Amino acid sequence: MSTIALRTFTSDDVDRYSRLLHALSRRDVRTRYFSWSAPASPAEIRAAMLGKDTVAGIAAHDSSGALIGVAQASRCSEGKFEIGVLVAESHRLRGIGGRLVDALLEKARIAGYSDAIAYSMMPNPAVEAVLRKRGFRASLTGQGIYRWCLRR
Ligand SMILES: CC(C)(COP(=O)(O)OP(=O)(O)OC[C@H]1O[C@@H](n2cnc3c(N)ncnc32)[C@H](O)[C@@H]1OP(=O)(O)O)[C@@H](O)C(=O)NCCC(=O)NCCS
Repeated sequence: MSTIALRTFTSDDVDRYSRLLHALSRRDVRTRYFSWSAPASPAEIRAAMLGKDTVAGIAAHDSSGALIGVAQASRCSEGKFEIGVLVAESHRLRGIGGRLVDALLEKARIAGYSDAIAYSMMPNPAVEAVLRKRGFRASLTGQGIYRWCLRR
């Protein structure tokens, strides 16, 4: 099995992330973005991953340098940040999503942020397991969306 390395998302990752998003199944677009289209243009990716409201961005690469996962944290209100995570279908269920979220939470903590939130469209057992294991607690917002909160 190839080694997966995590590092800070940089502008070098923008085109690779765009390709990853363009290759997503419709189902994954829905579960990640609650929409039928992903914000996959380079400008949208720069705004989300490297913009003024970005708290942290983490990229996961395999040993060939291919981008296989991304997690991001964005400022949403005083002291709070919202996280999102995505792993390529070919690399799921190997702990990479959990590692991405751990790295993101640690970077946000170092940056001075405490309470995290996330949203998931139910059912999404993989992200539910990842978030619950890290202390997030869910409440139903309606329309099949969970809001997850982590207080630290
Ligand atoms: C959510 C996502 C990032 C998880 O990535 P991953 O690399 O597979 O995550 P991990 O391997 O770290 O953990 C998956 C966990 O889900 C659990 N899981 C997966 N499918 C499950 C199922 N059907 N029932 C119960 N648990 C399940 C695994 O057992 C694992 O938990 P564990 O660590 O306690 O064993 C990935 O599925 C994904 O990219 N989905 C599409 C985008 C998305 O939905 N993002 C979330 C909204 S922000």
